[in-house]
Amino acid sequence: MLPCARWLQPALVFFSSALLTWGGNCPPSCLCPDPHTVDCSGQGLTRLPDSIPLDVRRLLLSNNWIPRIPSDFLVLYSDLVYLDLRNNSLSQIEPGTLSTSSRLVFLDLGSNNLTEISKGTFGESRSLIKLRLGSNPYLSRVSKDAFQGLTSLRELELERNALSGLQVGALSQLPSLRLVRLEGNPWVCNCNFANLFTWLMENRHKLPNGDLECSLPMDGRTVALSQLSQESFRKCQETLTLTDLLIIIFSGISVSVAAIMASFFLASTVHCFQRWSKGSKGDDEESEE
Ligand SMILES: *[C@@H]1O[C@H](CO)[C@@H](O)[C@H](O)[C@H]1NC(C)=O
Ligand SMILES: *[C@@H]1O[C@H](CO)[C@@H](O)[C@H](O)[C@H]1NC(C)=O
Repeated sequence: MLPCARWLQPALVFFSSALLTWGGNCPPSCLCPDPHTVDCSGQGLTRLPDSIPLDVRRLLLSNNWIPRIPSDFLVLYSDLVYLDLRNNSLSQIEPGTLSTSSRLVFLDLGSNNLTEISKGTFGESRSLIKLRLGSNPYLSRVSKDAFQGLTSLRELELERNALSGLQVGALSQLPSLRLVRLEGNPWVCNCNFANLFTWLMENRHKLPNGDLECSLPMDGRTVALSQLSQESFRKCQETLTLTDLLIIIFSGISVSVAAIMASFFLASTVHCFQRWSKGSKGDDEESEE
């Protein structure tokens, strides 16, 4: 028994120390400047490193080629407060990746390949304060409810994307918003832009870079928003009035047609009835003879 125990003891020590170093140590090719920070930026990673410590709070993954983050990522790393995924190859964020219980305060998804921000993408993450979504050159659709439930969000970056329009609800639903970056998008100042224009004029102080530019639908000319006024969008209301007018005219026509048809039906019924009563009288006269 003695030789066996003598052999077992170092083995146990070896395995436990191996486990400890494996669990507490940095993933290969990453730096861990303090116990809660893992810095894997600029390492040419094509996927998330395997052995990230579970208690990581700051995870820096910028300047890599990471194409996706698994939807259970923030369940696993539930202490994560700061996540930098800038300049990667993400094309979408799977719904459920972020959730209400997430502690994330800072999320950088800038300079990726996102195309759409749909409803519930951020799972009503109530801790989120800063969200960076700029420089996604194919990002052309942002749902009206994309940022729903982000009650603490103060800073939202949507600059240098491919947005030609944005439903105003996406911004007006954010109660804590202090700063929004929207410059460098191919905005089109058509009638769909009218509501956003009104919001932007009322919330000018939230735009750090001042003026935005948009192209006019008539001739594609680019103008600064400050050159436009509510007056510029009055034509949209005129278009509405024209539609209203058309509806009125058409409903007028339908009412007249209905009236004509009703009177025709009534007239025919009366006529039929008269003929029938005449006919039956004739029968009576015939039978009397
Ligand atoms: C983005 O990441 C790639 C790969 O690491 C790097 O070569 C490039 O310089 C980065 N771009 C920016 C703007 O940081
Ligand atoms: C980015 O997305 C666009 C459109 O979905 C696609 O055509 C392009 O190849 C993607 N680029 C990269 C680097 O993944």
